[in-house]
Amino acid sequence: MTRVGIVGAGNVAARHADVLSGFPDVTIAGIADTDPHRAEALASKHGSPAYGGHADLLSAGGLDAVYVCVPPFAHGNPEHDVLSCNLPLFVEKPLSLDLQTAEKIATEIERRSLPSAVGHHWRYLDIVEQARDLLSGRPVRLALGHWLDKVPPVGWWLKREMSGGQIVEQAVHVLDLARLLVGEVEMVHAVPAGDSVDGEVDRATSAVMRFAGGASGLLATSCLLTRKHRVGLEVCAEGIALELSETRLLVDGERAIEDDGRAKTRVDREFINAVQGRAADVRVPYGEALRTHRVALALARSATERRPVTLHD
Ligand SMILES: NC(=O)c1ccc[n+]([C@@H]2O[C@H](COP(=O)([O-])OP(=O)(O)OC[C@H]3O[C@@H](n4cnc5c(N)ncnc54)[C@H](O)[C@@H]3O)[C@@H](O)[C@H]2O)c1
Repeated sequence: MTRVGIVGAGNVAARHADVLSGFPDVTIAGIADTDPHRAEALASKHGSPAYGGHADLLSAGGLDAVYVCVPPFAHGNPEHDVLSCNLPLFVEKPLSLDLQTAEKIATEIERRSLPSAVGHHWRYLDIVEQARDLLSGRPVRLALGHWLDKVPPVGWWLKREMSGGQIVEQAVHVLDLARLLVGEVEMVHAVPAGDSVDGEVDRATSAVMRFAGGASGLLATSCLLTRKHRVGLEVCAEGIALELSETRLLVDGERAIEDDGRAKTRVDREFINAVQGRAADVRVPYGEALRTHRVALALARSATERRPVTLHD
C-alpha cells in the first residue's frame, strides 16, 4: 500500500483525495490544513487523521509521498519540509508567486533525485495526444490561448499578492499546452485593461508571445464573466486549424472529438506509479512545470511593468 499525505484540504485536494482513494494500492495516510475544520472535514471523509499543519503530518511519519495542494502564496515551506524527509512530491500549480521559490524547490528535487509531478493534467488529455498526431510534421505558426472565466470562489484569488493574478493562477494550463504543441516562448508583451483595483488582479489582459521556433502567439484572459466562457488553445499550422478545450478537440472548425475524461485520474496514477518505482509516464515533473511557470511569471511581469519581457534559457 502506498501511503500518501496531503497538505491543503481545499477544492483541489478533495479532488486528488477522491481519485487516490479509488486506487486499490493507495491509502490517504493523513491530511493537513492550517484551517483545522477543513483538514478534519476532508480527513474524516477518507478515514484519515487530520493535522493542523504540514509539519505535524510529516512528524507522524509513515508516508511514501506528499501532495501539496495549497494556494499560490503558501508554497515554499511545505515543499522544502517534504523534501527534507526525502519524500516524492506532487505539487499543484502554480508553483509559487515568484521564480526563486520554485527554482530552489526544483534544485532540491534534482539534488535528491526524487520523483515529482505537477498538476498540469491537460497534458494527459487524450485529445492532446490526438492533436499532437495531427500536427506531426506540421509546425504550428500561430497559437491563440484564452482563459475567459468568472472569479473562482476562493477568498484569496482576487488578491494579487496571494494568487499572482489570472495568468499565473489559471492561464498557466494553457501556457503549458502551448509549450507542448508550439515550443518554448522567447518573448512576451502583456497589456492589462487599465481599470484594475489597487492590490487586486487585472480583470482582463491581452498578450503577444513569440516562440523560439518563430511561431506567433496571442493570449487573452479575463475574469469579468459570470461563468466559464472560453478556455483553451487554438493553433494553426500549414493546412490545419485545431481548437482544444479541456473536453473537446475541434479540427478545422468541423470535426469534433470528445476527450475520454480520464486526464485527472491519469495525472495521479502516473505519479503513484513513479512513487512505487514502476514504469511511469509522468508528463510534467517539477522541472518541466518550472519552464511553464517562467513564461507565466514573465507575462505577469510584462503586464505590471508595461513592457515586453524576453525569456532567457
Ligand atoms: N490543476 C487543477 O485543475 C486545479 C484545480 C483547482 C485548483 N488548483 C490549484 O490548487 C491550488 C489550491 O486551490 P483550491 O481551489 O484547492 O484552494 P482552496 O482555497 O479551496 O484550498 C486551499 C487550502 O489550503 C489551505 N492552506 C493554506 N495555506 C496552507 C499551508 N501553509 N499549509 C496547509 N494548508 C494551507 C487553506 O486553508 C485551504 O483549505 C491553487 O493554486 C489552484 O490553482 C488546481
